[in-house]
Parts: sequence; structure tokens; C-alpha cells
Amino acid sequence: MWAGRFEKALDKKADDFNSSIRVDARMYAQDIKGSIAHAYMLGSKEVGVLSDEDVCAIIAELENISRDIDTGVLAIDQNAEDIHMFVEGELTKRLGDTGKRLHTSRSRNDQVAVDIRLYLRDEAAKVTALIKSAIFSIVNKAEECADVIAPGYTHLQRAQPISFGHQLMAYAWMLKRDVTRIEDAVARMNGECPLGSCALAGTTYPIRRDMTAAKLGFTGVSQNSIDGVSDRDFCVELMSAFSILMMHLSRFCEEIILWSSWEFKFIELDDSYTTGSSIMPQKKNPDMAELIRGKTGRVYGNLMSLLTTLKGLPLAYNKDMQEDKESIFDSLDTVKACLEILSPMVASMKVNAENTYRAAQKGFINATDLADYLVKKGMPFRSAYKIVGQIVADCIKKNCVLDEYSLSDYQAFSPLFAEDLYSEISLETCVQKRCSEGGASPKSVRAQIVQMKEFLN
Ligand code: ARG
Repeated sequence: MWAGRFEKALDKKADDFNSSIRVDARMYAQDIKGSIAHAYMLGSKEVGVLSDEDVCAIIAELENISRDIDTGVLAIDQNAEDIHMFVEGELTKRLGDTGKRLHTSRSRNDQVAVDIRLYLRDEAAKVTALIKSAIFSIVNKAEECADVIAPGYTHLQRAQPISFGHQLMAYAWMLKRDVTRIEDAVARMNGECPLGSCALAGTTYPIRRDMTAAKLGFTGVSQNSIDGVSDRDFCVELMSAFSILMMHLSRFCEEIILWSSWEFKFIELDDSYTTGSSIMPQKKNPDMAELIRGKTGRVYGNLMSLLTTLKGLPLAYNKDMQEDKESIFDSLDTVKACLEILSPMVASMKVNAENTYRAAQKGFINATDLADYLVKKGMPFRSAYKIVGQIVADCIKKNCVLDEYSLSDYQAFSPLFAEDLYSEISLETCVQKRCSEGGASPKSVRAQIVQMKEFLN
């Protein structure tokens, strides 16, 4: 490929070091698609840089190459420098001089910039589909658990009673934003096709960038050739979105790990998503959830890695940028693997409603409701708050819960207390009554589920 300028071949180790084929081979379909659009444009009447015969031959052969790689007839040569060189080399092997015409008015710099975008567009759609199926699992589980009463926490201290479905649905909303965040990033990326930026400065040929952009499904073209070949902000954006997604998955998994411990026993994970210990026969470990939590680190790391690679680069293309693909592909593979495990793990987990209820009975989590009871009878909230605090302290002394405290004891604190307080502070009432929009009641959970199903459809 370097024929002309060099007298010696590249040192073997340097050649391996320089090569990116092991990483970028996976973009072969996108590389070929980009080449087909480019050839088509060069041969169009408006441009006329390539003859009809050349273009027909090039396009037909590129399609053959794509099919041959798909079917395994053609193996990608791991000694090629990168996928762009491999495809062009193979085309030239098959078509001779005609193949050599394809690279007119093009550089690997704009080629790689377009390939990554096409690849990420396809892969991002797979990721959002997987997120949606995770949301689907969560929604179904939440539907099952809408009437399951559990303690809600702040500071990991029991705080207020909630529907367990409400807690689960919180994750569905986070994941919904992850879907739209990824879609936003893809739409931005898709608005600027860099093909035609060439090496860095555009070209002297009368190319039609709008044509290639439209053929490749972009909604516009980049307006600065230097920017077109040198920025990877779209990778950074997607990796940020993946990092946020992993942060959400990790928090969810952290709860799944806690909930499946003997200390909580709110859920039981299915045997098919847990492992045993090699020494402790009693163990059932939530390894899948732990791995998702653990892999979050590498997705954050990949983001930092690319940001660091880019931060000191002068414009335009620098070889440093070849490192972009390793990071983003690893992040892609990781989020897909995590989502593929998370969905069935959540779908198959069993929620132990007796245990969540029992946990809700302890910790005075209906204390706010008791204060609200007094407020509804006319007492200012701060006064009610203080009285209930004193009652809780007395209950702790007497080793009882609010529901067991006698009416005469209550009335010693305030004459506003009456028999109806007990039904007001029952866990069922406390949860049912939290029916403010977005609140923790079963009714609110069901409303959320309706909205989320609409989103999924
Ligand atoms: N393999 C290279 C990359 O991934 C392709 C672009 C090479 N361009 C160049 N001028 N050496 O970045």
C-alpha cells in the first residue's frame, strides 16, 4: 500500500503495534457500505469521476466481499493493517486497476470516521432494544409486586412504607432515560456525515457529500472537514451514556445483592442466576449481580481512557485516535452482556412479600403518618413532629411499635388522638394513601406501569 515512498518494509513488531485489524475487523460491513456509497457518488452523473462500468464492478465486488466475509468464505487477513486496507486490498486483488480507483477523493481518516458512526448507530439500536427488554422485566415484576408492602429507605434506614413495585419502577424510569439519552446522542452523531472530509482538507474533486450522506442514512453532513475527521465526541457521548446506564444497573444490582442476603431476604434469585461456593455448601451467591456491579468500573474506565487519549491532540487526525475503538467496543460488549443477564435475572427472581412486610413493621416507618394524623386534626406539623418523636422514644423504652401503643398512652400526649388513629397508621393505609402523582401507592405504581408500557410499545 505504501508503494513509492518507502525503501524498506515496516519492522515486524512495529507492524503488529501499528495494526488495528484485530479490533476494527468487526466494522467490515460498515466499511463496505461506506465504500459502496462513495463509489456510487463518484460515478453519479453529477460527479462523473468514475465510469459507469467501474462503479458497477466496484459495487458488485464490494457486495461479494461482504457476503464472502459473512459466510466465512473469506477470512479477514489478520496481517492487514486495518479493515479499510483489507477491504480495499481484497477489492484490488479481485478487480485490478478498477479496484485501485475506489480510493479517489477519500482518505482512511474520513473512512474510519464514517465507519465508526455507522457501526455505533447499529450497535446503539441493539443496546436500546436490550434496555427496553430490561425495562419490560422490571415492569412485569413491579406489576406482580404492586400490592407488596415494603419499607422504603433513606440512609439505608427504614424510612416510610412503600409498594415494593414502586421501588422496582424507579429503575424502569432510570433506564427509560438511558434509552432516550442514547437516542439523543445517536441523532446528533447521525446529523453530521464526515465522508468527503478526506484526509483533513476536503478535496478538489466535485464530490456530492449530500449524496453519500443520504445513501448512508445520515441526516446531514459535517461542515468542517478538519472537525469531521478529528473529533470523537460522539464516542465520548455514547460512552458517557453507557457509563450512566451502568451506574443505574450497578445500583440496581447492589440492591439485588442486599435484598438476597440473609439480612434482608426480600428476594430470592433463581438458581440459574446464582452460584455456589467451592467450600461453603450452604452458599448461594449473587455473582451475576456482582459482576454487573463490577463491570461498571471498566465502562467508566473506558470513558476516561478515551477522554484522556483525546485531550491533548492537535488537529486533525492523529494515530492516537485508533485507540478509540478498543474502548468503545469494550463498553458496548460490556453493556450488552450485562443487559442480557439482567433481564432474565430480574424476571426469574422471587419477591418474598412476607419478609418485606415484616421489615416494614419494624423501624417506626409509619411515624410520619402519625404526625400527619395530628396535622389533619389541626395541629401544626412541627408540633406534631415533636410529639410523635416523643411517642417513638417511649415505644422504644416499652419495646413496642406504634400500632401497639395504647390509646390512653397516646391521649396522654394529645387529646386529638382517637381510636381512628390505628387504621390511619396501618401499613396498608400508609401505602394506599401515598397516591400523590409519582407516589408510593399501588395505584400510582399501576399508573406508572401504564405509562411505561406505552413507552415500550
Ligand atoms: N486504523 C486507523 C484508525 O483506526 C484508520 C485511520 C488511519 N489513518 C491514517 N492516517 N493512518 O484510526
